[in-house]
Amino acid sequence: MVSVGVKTEHASALADVLVAADYRGHYSHGLNRLEMYVQDISTKICDGNAIPTIEKDKFSTALVNGQNSLGPVVGNFCMNLAIEKAKKHGVGWVTANNSNHYGIAGWYSIMAANQGLMGLSFTSTSPLVAPSRAKNAALGTNPITLAAPALNGDQFVLDMATCTVAVGKIELQRRKGLPIPEGWAIDKEGKITTNADVAMKGCLMPLGGAEQTSGYKGYGLAALVEIFCGISAGATYGPNIRRWMDTKRKANLGQCFIAVDPECFASGFETRLSDLMSHLRHMEPADPNKPVLVAGDPERAHIALVDSEGGIRYHVNQISASASLAQKLNVKPMEHIA
Ligand SMILES: *[C@@H]1O[C@H](CO)[C@@H](O)[C@H](O)[C@H]1NC(C)=O
Repeated sequence: MVSVGVKTEHASALADVLVAADYRGHYSHGLNRLEMYVQDISTKICDGNAIPTIEKDKFSTALVNGQNSLGPVVGNFCMNLAIEKAKKHGVGWVTANNSNHYGIAGWYSIMAANQGLMGLSFTSTSPLVAPSRAKNAALGTNPITLAAPALNGDQFVLDMATCTVAVGKIELQRRKGLPIPEGWAIDKEGKITTNADVAMKGCLMPLGGAEQTSGYKGYGLAALVEIFCGISAGATYGPNIRRWMDTKRKANLGQCFIAVDPECFASGFETRLSDLMSHLRHMEPADPNKPVLVAGDPERAHIALVDSEGGIRYHVNQISASASLAQKLNVKPMEHIA
């Protein structure tokens, strides 16, 4: 990122979010995405050095103009502002327009949880998901995240897209020559498909899949995210958002960041949350080999694995993709760090 002109501080902010994704096991949002950010900067469609500005400020709320800076720069700015407001007023609700891809949504909600607050974050994304009953895409994978503090550093971390699966999962099935389950995607005619090839030319389905399996609930949640983001912040929204990987138009994404101090409500929040999580985790599993988990547990397990191995394990394809990107940008790869 520095080699294409981004200042170190902003490049570091992006690096932190990408590495956090890989560390947590969400490889689709980590180093894998670096080339996309490089592309956004080298085509000058994103301004890696811009500083977000506060457009409106009213006690517990603010509207931020992201000034087309890198998503993580805008996201950190907004969530830090929301945290400050939550500490002062109990709740901080900040929306941003003119932003870019901000990486894993959970990064921002966890920022708040690390300060003893509930954190929520939402972002609109390029349209890939067809609303229930529609043939074409009009909404993005629009993620929702809530991070909440429990005792002794434990946290509940929900971080989910509002569609059934990411495009990457369908791509993976296609590469393996395998079919996809019903409810992931529709073809060009709006019919549910199990053919990964056909699905790549069609649209993703909202969380829940078909109407019979409550896909309209996922559709509703994706629209909720859009209302909190693009509609509230005056950014692009729904079908107006640029196509995925388009570098001809500014992204102008809308995003939303909320921090809430649980101390404003009944005391003992962390104790009760720990009690609930402990109950859930210790429930008798249907399959003895698959313990009942709480949102955030799979990521915690991946983090523990990375720690025990002394580093993040990457697929050889990622290593070679990174190496060729480095070569293209004339960046000398770091020597192996002992
Ligand atoms: C963001 O919102 C501000 C305040 O309403 C507005 O002046 C600005 O034009 C918006 N930015 C974009 C890119 O829409």
